[in-house]
Amino acid sequence: MPKEQPLKHNFSQALLDAMRDAFDHAVLASDRTGSILWRTADCKKLDAALAPGGVLSPASLMDQVPGTGDVLLDDGRTIRWHAQLLPRPLPLADPGRPTVEALLWTFEDQTHTERLRRALDDAEGRLRLLSPQLHGIIFELDAQVRIVRVWTSDPGLLAVPEQALLGRTILEILGPEVGRQHHEAALATVRFGKSARYEYELDVPEGHRHFATESIAVSAIDSDEQHAIFWIRDITEQVQIQQRLLETERLASIGTLAAGLAHEINNPLAYMMLNTGELRAEFRRLASDPKFDGQLDGMKASVEMIYEGAHRVQCIVHDLLQLAKPVGQVGPVDVRQVITMATELTRTSWENRARLRTEWDDVPRVSAHQGCLVQVFTNLLTNAAQAIAAGAIADNAITVSVCQPLPNSVQIEFRDSGMGIAEEDAAHIFEPFFTTKQQGTGLGLAICQMVVRSFDGEIQFERGQSRGSVFRVLLPVAE
Ligand SMILES: Nc1ncnc2c1ncn2[C@@H]1O[C@H](COP(=O)(O)OP(=O)(O)OP(=O)(O)O)[C@@H](O)[C@H]1O
Ligand SMILES: [Mg+2]
Repeated sequence: MPKEQPLKHNFSQALLDAMRDAFDHAVLASDRTGSILWRTADCKKLDAALAPGGVLSPASLMDQVPGTGDVLLDDGRTIRWHAQLLPRPLPLADPGRPTVEALLWTFEDQTHTERLRRALDDAEGRLRLLSPQLHGIIFELDAQVRIVRVWTSDPGLLAVPEQALLGRTILEILGPEVGRQHHEAALATVRFGKSARYEYELDVPEGHRHFATESIAVSAIDSDEQHAIFWIRDITEQVQIQQRLLETERLASIGTLAAGLAHEINNPLAYMMLNTGELRAEFRRLASDPKFDGQLDGMKASVEMIYEGAHRVQCIVHDLLQLAKPVGQVGPVDVRQVITMATELTRTSWENRARLRTEWDDVPRVSAHQGCLVQVFTNLLTNAAQAIAAGAIADNAITVSVCQPLPNSVQIEFRDSGMGIAEEDAAHIFEPFFTTKQQGTGLGLAICQMVVRSFDGEIQFERGQSRGSVFRVLLPVAE
């Protein structure tokens, strides 16, 4: 067995100690057979595993020099080695072998580095676990504001695929128009540690979305640079709820204004109606008297028109008062009973236009106010009937179906075979005073929406498959 040989050298012990301290790993010299010629004290820790009897093991190490590789020790540690040939032969204290061609080895315990890497992987894994809850994107930007890491719960939120983001700045990805704000915020965070907070809108593969962004400065994991973390949240749903709330508030203030106006108009209107009613009856009587020989026909027609106009104002005032009327106390309501009442109340409007079909599942009672719900269904049935021309009863149908799509919600659907709603009108039908009818006030659907929302329900419109319209009312199941 080759013996460990003392190396004849001119190095002082202090220099050797300094060399050893300069490395946080072991350094040794061997000959071509793997016999150790010299080593730093640290190597002793490796002797049992790597150099039993003063010869490097496994022997296959020698086939790989010069070079670098990993050795897995029995105790689970990973040792990374690096070997190179010394440029000059080393002198030995052996007269039979004055010099030897020597290899310089370094051995570094990777276990600690490996543990750190695993901890980092774990932390990243945890972040990935968390990110679906965040519904957004997290970017890490380096000191040159280039993206170095991306985490997202949903790749559909990224403007471009993840791989195409890495190494590029947000300005390069989104262009100057959309990207400038992000770029400036990123520079402020990376250079001056200034956090940013702002909202913006963007078209992504998932559609048009609203985002909120927050940035903070962090130290880079592997350098002294300052990086920035950008947390971008998808707040589309939140924005939609806010918009709905604003719309509800707007409707409520229109309602209050309308109620005030309607109340003021109602009294003078009542005596206008009474008196024009009497005038109309009188003119009808006089005009039919042969004594006047048609001379009063013109005046009679004028009075008829005044009466008609006043009657129309009365209808509008009636609807406005409905819009502002406080919704009654909510309780458990049987929707089938309400549908039966509404279909009877509207019979004259649909009877000569379409067949009425009802399809209902056995559903629980809903949380609503019966009288108000009758009004909603009456409005929807009247609209459906008004969309169908009179006469062709056999070719037309109004179908009311009831089902329970979710455990806590009941759906009442009104489907008609009428003329449908033009694309450009569909966005406005729930607005107060929007009407396409000569005699309409445009308040029917606005009232329906307000009432249904007051029950924490929802009303939706959809175009019919081949023709007509579908209105769906969703109501919460009563406790
Ligand atoms: N079933 C339907 N088919 C076709 N168009 C409809 C239907 N329901 C509503 N609309 C459209 O929506 C508009 C608004 O309806 P809404 O009930 O609010 O007012 P209106 O029916 O015009 O008037 P009002 O109900 O106050 O007498 C209507 O004018 C019509 O253009
Ligand atoms: Mg209507």
